[in-house]
Amino acid sequence: MYWFLPWVWTASWLETYLGHGQPFIAELGDDDLDAAAELHSEAFDQPWSGDELGTLLAQRGSFGFVARLPGLPQSPPLGFVLARSVAGEAEILTITVARRNRRAGVGRMLMDQVLQKLHAERAHSLFLEVDEENQAALRLYKRLRFEEVGRRPAYYQHPDGRRTSALTLKRSLFAAR
Ligand SMILES: CC(C)(COP(=O)(O)OP(=O)(O)OC[C@H]1O[C@@H](n2cnc3c(N)ncnc32)[C@H](O)[C@@H]1OP(=O)(O)O)[C@@H](O)C(=O)NCCC(=O)NCCS
Repeated sequence: MYWFLPWVWTASWLETYLGHGQPFIAELGDDDLDAAAELHSEAFDQPWSGDELGTLLAQRGSFGFVARLPGLPQSPPLGFVLARSVAGEAEILTITVARRNRRAGVGRMLMDQVLQKLHAERAHSLFLEVDEENQAALRLYKRLRFEEVGRRPAYYQHPDGRRTSALTLKRSLFAAR
């Protein structure tokens, strides 16, 4: 009886996504924090609440971006990134794209925006940590020319009890001054 529902859902998603053109990037603001927390909980076993994201965003040097659909200002963000830059050294605190919007270039757009901002302020390096098994993220960072500079064995614990290493990746932006 409900055989048509997936088609309705797919058609409405395509209309939303394609009918409104390319996503655009805006600054992450306080009004986005609850939606960002929702996205975070979709992706991570230990999600950060809107308040926790707000505390991080309020710290010195913190900034973030959201990806949105044009023409739909009230719609939830497709993804967001939160980063911090202090004295020329920056780090990605978190990046998440909504499950249904992955593999469409949104993660790349968010990271490009971070890199653009860091270039403008002449930061010299960007660091992040990633699970050694996170193939999607590793592919994204490899494309952006991040290099492995460290490893924390057994850093992440998975719900099934397995432990995996955290890789520390670095992207050099300018030659050291
Ligand atoms: C990692 C993440 C942010 C990538 O976002 P995305 O919008 O899907 O990425 P993009 O579409 O911009 O793709 C970037 C590159 O990664 C590749 N990629 C994306 N998902 C992939 C997957 N599941 N497997 C393999 N490669 C993948 C894309 O093909 C693309 O590579 P290409 O330029 O060689 O074609 C997203 O998968 C996500 O939110 N994951 C959950 C949260 C997370 O793990 N965050 C990172 C923590 S360090």
